[in-house]
Amino acid sequence: MFLCRFFFRFPKIEDIISARISSIWTHATRMEKQEDKRPQFGNRHLKNENQVFDFNAWDDVEWTEEKLKEAEEKVRNNSSQPLDENLRNEYEQKAGEYWDKFYESHTNRFFKDRHWLFTEFPELRSSSPGNLTNDKAQLYPGSESDFRIFEVGCGVGNTVFPLLDSLKNTSTFVYACDFSDVAVNLVKEHKEYDQERCLAFQADISASELNFPFPKRSLDVILMIFVLSALEPVKMQNCINQLSSYLKPGGRILFRDYGRFDMAQLRFKKNRCLGENFYVRGDGTRVYFFTQDELRSLFTKAGFVEEQNIEDKRLLVNRGRQLTMYRVWMQCKYRKKTDETEE
Ligand SMILES: C[S@@+](CC[C@H](N)C(=O)[O-])C[C@H]1O[C@@H](n2cnc3c(N)ncnc32)[C@H](O)[C@@H]1O
Repeated sequence: MFLCRFFFRFPKIEDIISARISSIWTHATRMEKQEDKRPQFGNRHLKNENQVFDFNAWDDVEWTEEKLKEAEEKVRNNSSQPLDENLRNEYEQKAGEYWDKFYESHTNRFFKDRHWLFTEFPELRSSSPGNLTNDKAQLYPGSESDFRIFEVGCGVGNTVFPLLDSLKNTSTFVYACDFSDVAVNLVKEHKEYDQERCLAFQADISASELNFPFPKRSLDVILMIFVLSALEPVKMQNCINQLSSYLKPGGRILFRDYGRFDMAQLRFKKNRCLGENFYVRGDGTRVYFFTQDELRSLFTKAGFVEEQNIEDKRLLVNRGRQLTMYRVWMQCKYRKKTDETEE
C-alpha cells in the first residue's frame, strides 16, 4: 500500500499509522507533481550536503556506506519472517480481486498522469508522421495504424490518455490492458477514450500463455510502468518472454518500476514479506523491488538488447519539515533483436 500511495493523488488513510507519515506522503505526492514539470530526470545534483534543503528534489544521489548498511539492515529485519506458503498462495490466487478492490475504493483519483513519458521515452513517437487517411482494410483493431503501442498494467489510463493526447495527429494505435476489470472499465468510460485509436481490455500478464487481440510481431512499443513489480517473481521471466513475441523485430519495451532499497521497501513491517524483496501491502496488492542486474538478466534472457538500464536514485525533500526521502526507481529500455544473429 505504501508504494502505491506515493503514486496516487488521495491516499486512503485507514492504515496510515500517524499523521506524521500521512504528511510525508502528501508531500511526496506534491513532489511527484513537481516532477512532472521537470525537463528530464537526472539533472540536479547535490554536491554540498549543507544545501540539501535548498531544493525539493535531487537526482543521482550517492548513498554513503552508512546509508546502504542501514538499508540492508532494515530489509534483513523486515524479511526475517516471510509469510507462510498458504498465505503467499492466497495472495497470488486473489491478486486480481485485490486490484479490483483497490480501484473500487480509489477509482481514478489515485494515480496521476504520467506527463514525463515523452521526455524519458521519446521512442513513443513514431518516426513517421503517419497516414491519417485510413484506406487499409482492418484485419484487427489497430491493424491499419502505422505505429502500435501496448501498455500492460494500465490502471485507469494515466499513461494512455496523455499518450492519446500527444499522439493525436499521428497514425498511432494504443492498446492497454489491466488485471482489474474495474480499472479497464474506468478507462473505457473516460471521455477521451476513442475506439478508433485505442483498445482497452482485461488481461493477466502473469498467465502462462498470453493471448491478445492483435497478432504476434505486431507491436512497436510495450510500456511497463510500475507493473512487473506486482507479479510473483517466478512468473516474471515467462511474462517478458511472451510479451517479446508480440513485438516486431526492433520493437522496444520501455520500463519504469521500483528499485531495491526504495524508501517504501524500507518501511515495510516484518509481517508483510512474501519472499526476498517481495512484499504485500495493507490492501493485499504486492510489490517487488528490482536491481539493475535482475532486470538485465530478465530482458537479455528473453532476447533483448539493452539500450538503457538506470537506477534512478532520487532524494525528495520536505523543506518545511526538514525531512528527506530516498526513492529508488529503475528505468530501462530494451530492444528486441532484429534477427537471431544480432548480438
Ligand atoms: C502500481 S499500479 C500502476 C498502474 C499504472 N501502470 C501507473 O503507473 O499509473 C500496478 C497496475 O498493474 C496491474 N496489474 C497487477 N498485476 C497484473 C497482472 N498480472 N496483469 C495485468 N495487470 C496487472 C494492477 O491492476 C495495477 O493497475
